[in-house]
Amino acid sequence: MPEHNFIAAAFSQPHETIPIWIMRQAGRYLPQYREVRSRVSFLDLCHKPELMTKVTLQPIDIFGFDAAILFSDILIPLAHLGISVTFPNGPPKLEPPLREPADVDRLNLYDIADKLSFVLEGIRRIRGALYDRVPLIGFCGSPFTLLCYLVEGGGSKDFTETKKFIYTYPDAASRLLSLLADLVGNYLKLQINSGVQALQLFDTWGGILSPSDYSRYSLPYVQRVFELCHTEGIPRTLYLGNTACFLHLLADLNCEVISIDWRTELTLAGRQLPTKAIQGNLDPNILFAPTATVIAAARTILETMRDRDGFIFNLGHGILPQTPIDNVRALVETVHTFRR
Ligand code: CP3
Repeated sequence: MPEHNFIAAAFSQPHETIPIWIMRQAGRYLPQYREVRSRVSFLDLCHKPELMTKVTLQPIDIFGFDAAILFSDILIPLAHLGISVTFPNGPPKLEPPLREPADVDRLNLYDIADKLSFVLEGIRRIRGALYDRVPLIGFCGSPFTLLCYLVEGGGSKDFTETKKFIYTYPDAASRLLSLLADLVGNYLKLQINSGVQALQLFDTWGGILSPSDYSRYSLPYVQRVFELCHTEGIPRTLYLGNTACFLHLLADLNCEVISIDWRTELTLAGRQLPTKAIQGNLDPNILFAPTATVIAAARTILETMRDRDGFIFNLGHGILPQTPIDNVRALVETVHTFRR
């Protein structure tokens, strides 16, 4: 049996306590994170292994989560493709955006081990500082989600540029997605070689597609990424926004865990994904409710998943910056004191 309950749950193996970690657990809702950020920019923070280590460990020390997640960002590997990636106090900005097939051909392929060595060094330091208290999760964005940022030049509400691009230039889109799948798969493999003990692929924007377009523009590339980084003993998680619409496509995917959002019913996900572990799925906004409401909502999820070895408690998306700390504490305590 694996030593950490997070790893056991990810492989759907028996364990005692249900594990919990939360997406964006190292971030602005924490005063200790804001203190570090008041002295350095977000990009500098992502480039300095000693600061990455400090903020990765903050939520572990403060709340006792069952897994740590590498402090970095899904957009970091895009900067070396010849695109400027900045975070001008809020939403990211990528320049110039990719709008034509020729823009794809101009991208600069690079040596990941060399250009992203600061991330790999961060991983080694974090592992050293964790002393194996909890496992470390490495991550990257899915090829399709990264394509969205490259084509939009940042975030978007309706993703018109992304859809215009893939429907007008399907061949260029598939060239770009293949290039990104190789980049992401190789990058995750290097993260494993540097010490991460689990992986999560963020397909945050996959959910803007119809199921048939998801099968064409995202899923095959997710599959390729998971193939490239497959390593004995390292569980792979896919987070997909709007999961409910795509459950029937995910049952045979080559990964161990599916992370679902709060619009997706847990029992339905459990039925449609019989061999996968499920991660999720509290609405991050519930953490703004009175503490008793938070506890009741968490208990409902715990009761629903009580008998499933393959269950990891998480939010349905990242924690929001204004979230009250006391409710996070109450949430972790509720999960940790729950007896299966
Ligand atoms: O604690 C953790 O989860 C680890 C670190 C982490 C960050 N970003 C740090 C971050 C992880 C896993 C991510 C993933 C990420 N980044 C995703 C996928 C997950 C999701 O939320 O859907 C996406 C889409 C991004 C892109 C991104 N990075 C955006 C849209 C933004 C700006 C919006 C925002 O929340 O401010 C970022 C910046 C960012 N990444 C911050 C952090 C802590 C805030 C930066 C700051 O300190 O000012």
